Amino acid sequence: MNTAAHPDTSLARPTEFPIPAGVHAERVVSVKHYTDRLFSFRITRPQSFRFRSGEFVMIGLPNAEKPVFRAYSIASPAWDEEIEFYSIKVPDGPLTQHLQKIQPGDTVLMRQKSTGTLVLDALTPAKRLWMISTGTGIAPFASLMRDPETYEKFEQVFLTHTCRDVGELVYGNDLAKGLIEDPLIGELVDGRFRHHATTTREDHPRMGRITTLIENRALFSDLGVEPFDPAVDRVMICGSMDMIRDVKALVEGFGLVEGSNNKPAEFVVERAFVG
Ligand code: A2P
Repeated sequence: MNTAAHPDTSLARPTEFPIPAGVHAERVVSVKHYTDRLFSFRITRPQSFRFRSGEFVMIGLPNAEKPVFRAYSIASPAWDEEIEFYSIKVPDGPLTQHLQKIQPGDTVLMRQKSTGTLVLDALTPAKRLWMISTGTGIAPFASLMRDPETYEKFEQVFLTHTCRDVGELVYGNDLAKGLIEDPLIGELVDGRFRHHATTTREDHPRMGRITTLIENRALFSDLGVEPFDPAVDRVMICGSMDMIRDVKALVEGFGLVEGSNNKPAEFVVERAFVG
């Protein structure tokens, strides 16, 4: 391995490999660590890069001839000048073992095309939007909750976020607070966005898996609304494979039908990135 000095620091770092074709090489603008398992980072946005809020894109690092790419939901809204991601740190994860060490000035690779089903276009019109997330599954909703189009299409927007412990809720809490205070979108969102956060492994005012809270109706009584109704509600689900399977079954139990980009309907799902 070549260990020539990195141009931005005095530390010895591996020289970057040539950028593969069809890939943007972007600069890391900022990095924020939340817990020993979670961090977020922002990179520069290529001028030509267009995406719909809620989509994901493949990202990697220039640390090998054939870099490892993984699907990451874009956590920033479509109007943002930078691109934000929210990531888990897996000690031996093929990408995240390296990605968790990035610093401002480093290069992140991003493929040119974004895609995904957690988009407003995949849902038919209705009154309320539910964004149901666990862990890093909040990322696509971090994008959608900051997009004015979400509030043009839905009167009320609910974000549920369930994590193991309180520290893992901080990213979502900061986002919700920032949204209300945002000079651009705060007024539009005021009184229409609600955030429902729970933990499962540490004491917190609200606790419980989202599946339990849907089953026992505590989610709806907490928020003072009626349970899911296909005439009123649209649902987006993002979390682990098991969480998606279980929440999907519950939502279908209320009579909602799954949609896609080609066939918009009443709920959509996507697996949160792992590894
Ligand atoms: P639990 O603590 O009971 O496992 P993770 O970080 O492992 O992805 O988990 C994020 C959150 O999702 C945790 O609060 C976890 O609860 C919850 N969770 C895990 N599996 C499911 C499931 N099948 N349905 C609903 N929630 C789940």
